[in-house]
Amino acid sequence: MTMTLTSTASAGTTLKASAAEKGRYFGAAVAGQKLSDSTYVTILNREFNSVVAENDMKWDATEPQQGRFNYTGGDRLVAHAQANGQSVRGHALLWYQQQPGWAQNMSGSPLRSAMMNHVTQVATHFKGKIHSWDVVNEAFADGNSGARRDSNLQRTGNDWIEAAFRAARAADPGAKLCYNDYNTDGINAKSTGIYNMVRDFKSRGVPIDCVGFQSHLGTSLSSDYQANLQRFADLGVDVQITELDVMSGGNQANIYAGVTRACMNVSRCTGITTWGVRDCDSWRGSDNALLFECSGNKKAAYTSVLNALNAGPGITPSPTTPGPTTPGPTSPPPTSPSPTTPPPTTPPPGGCTATVSLNSWTGGFVASVKVTAGAAGTNGWNVSVTLPSGASVTNTWSATASGSTGTVRFTNVNYNGQLGAGQVAEFGFQGTGSGAGITPTCAAS
Ligand code: G3I
Repeated sequence: MTMTLTSTASAGTTLKASAAEKGRYFGAAVAGQKLSDSTYVTILNREFNSVVAENDMKWDATEPQQGRFNYTGGDRLVAHAQANGQSVRGHALLWYQQQPGWAQNMSGSPLRSAMMNHVTQVATHFKGKIHSWDVVNEAFADGNSGARRDSNLQRTGNDWIEAAFRAARAADPGAKLCYNDYNTDGINAKSTGIYNMVRDFKSRGVPIDCVGFQSHLGTSLSSDYQANLQRFADLGVDVQITELDVMSGGNQANIYAGVTRACMNVSRCTGITTWGVRDCDSWRGSDNALLFECSGNKKAAYTSVLNALNAGPGITPSPTTPGPTTPGPTSPPPTSPSPTTPPPTTPPPGGCTATVSLNSWTGGFVASVKVTAGAAGTNGWNVSVTLPSGASVTNTWSATASGSTGTVRFTNVNYNGQLGAGQVAEFGFQGTGSGAGITPTCAAS
């Protein structure tokens, strides 16, 4: 995405209005049970135009038993957001903490399959409703190593993060996909480890769009906080402040202002989220780390943030920036065939072609299949794939599978069967075993 810095004259009087005037959002983490507290909800809806579930979209909440999904809390937050014009950040598809007990007890290939299934199922459920997903949260170690954090997730193989991003992209192509972490509030060994991963992902085409900087802060702000955001932005990703809270005391308002100014000065810093609404809603308890008192009164830190938003330069997101998308078919918008290439008068038989891209790990894989209609278009299509011996399909999206081993036939679903000449539909499936060498064959009707 390219963006330009602009200047605007008017000064907003709420966090969301001031941020929006500068092309950004201002968000809050929401605890589901607080949505019945009227003081809380009044502030939430007046001041914030983005929400993130503090806990309700985590693995333990959404898949308490393997394969049994519970979206009650997440759906409630999405409904609240949609009714109040707020975008939704999804948090978090994979994290070493807050795993359900059954996942904590798994390892190796079964865990990898369960992880990928979780990403696919949850991202599919919320498809079209999430602006940005924290696909992976807190995967790097604290301290000076710059290395990955040891965890059951990491022990499934170093490629688990890129596998998760690919599975999330396949499941919800309209959502921005982010990596999110803490203790990354300046140029340090941990943020540099993450920086190197993002650079590597961008060079290899792993689908990453954004990096979240949690920013759970104490009594000072690193002098290179802004420079750190900027070096990530320069890699070609958006950056966001995702879980901001600051220790109370004399410096709180200054630190809040410093973080806000830093974001405003980085054109790819697209928004700020505080981790809660009022001090008494915060996981930090007596730190009084947020922008509102329990009574609902605005704190000095609130005013300093508002002033910094109003003083900062604005950005005009480029028109290609995907916003929140509406639920719908997975196929991208139809592409018109080039006007310089007239369709042949006699359409070739066969009617479609299919290509597959494979994301594999030891013991499993996710296949993303692209179906392209020939000159006659399609009324429906099916794709046949012969799996290697020992492999089997466990999960399919945007198509219906017939069979799970040997030759498996995938048929269009109702919204992606009719394709005009040159149009494309995409579907995917997940399997156990090896998917190496599979070659799809497409037939149109
Ligand atoms: O809801 C249960 C309640 O029924 C039970 O009686 C009680 C007993 O312990 O626990 C309640 O659940 C707690 C939940 O918060 C809701 O209050 C969990 O134990 C507790 O572990 C959980 O803490 C959350 C923590 O993440 C762990 O998931 C915090 O609210 C949440 O603010 C915090 O958020 C994290 C981000 O996700 C990632 N970055 C760091 C940030 C702060 O730790």
